[in-house]
Amino acid sequence: MYAIILLARFAYVKKINIAIDGYAACGKSTTAKKVAQELNYLYIDSGAMYRAFTLYLLENNIDYQNQQLLSQIIPHIQISFARNPQTGNYEVTLNDKFVEHQIRSLAVSEKVSKVSTIKEVRAFLVKQQQQLGWQKGVVMDGRDIGTVVFPDAELKVFMDAEFDVRVERRKQELEAQGIYLEKAAIESHLYERDLLDTTRSESPLRKAEDARLLDTTHLAIEEQVQQVLDWAHELIYCLE
Ligand code: DC
Repeated sequence: MYAIILLARFAYVKKINIAIDGYAACGKSTTAKKVAQELNYLYIDSGAMYRAFTLYLLENNIDYQNQQLLSQIIPHIQISFARNPQTGNYEVTLNDKFVEHQIRSLAVSEKVSKVSTIKEVRAFLVKQQQQLGWQKGVVMDGRDIGTVVFPDAELKVFMDAEFDVRVERRKQELEAQGIYLEKAAIESHLYERDLLDTTRSESPLRKAEDARLLDTTHLAIEEQVQQVLDWAHELIYCLE
């Protein structure tokens, strides 16, 4: 009894930011979403913001390489997150329209890695991502969260998995959406994505020095989530 009173006296709960980066098809989004649910934190899918930006360009026939035009249109693009009353989920919005479904299309998936190499696009979206996290209590996943968006995040996780495992996961993910592609096509798409994400000059994907490595090759989603939660709990429940 005395020990419990002592613990209640000296323990406090701290709100933290959790940055989850890594390669495509490692289970980042699923893990981040579940961790946020468990902690009652806000989940932000930063990739969805790059996808929404790409959708805007496609819908308006704008060439992402036209720098002058990009600078003109950026002030007219509003990307945010809100609860969708139809699905009950917290989803990305583009100029006040829910676009969760549209941003997952093949057309957007094929362009987004290139659009996300553009300096102006990154500067615009990183600023918004940082604003979303200033009050803490955010789990954000992406490619540069631990290195650029939240370099001071209390918990940084870098997720990886063997290439073949990621290909198989992406295949299953696509099939769940009714999209059936040859394994070779998925392999080359993932390979190209990894290459673009890791070799671009603006904020390339890399593990922050202080990030904890989570290899998910042999892990089930529940195990990934539990590992991140264990790390988070170490930091959240602090003893004075
Ligand atoms: O996580 P995703 O597949 O939805 O991301 C889509 C693309 O956006 C991916 O090619 C990398 C890019 N991206 C990025 O450059 N930086 C982020 N923080 C998140 C995504």
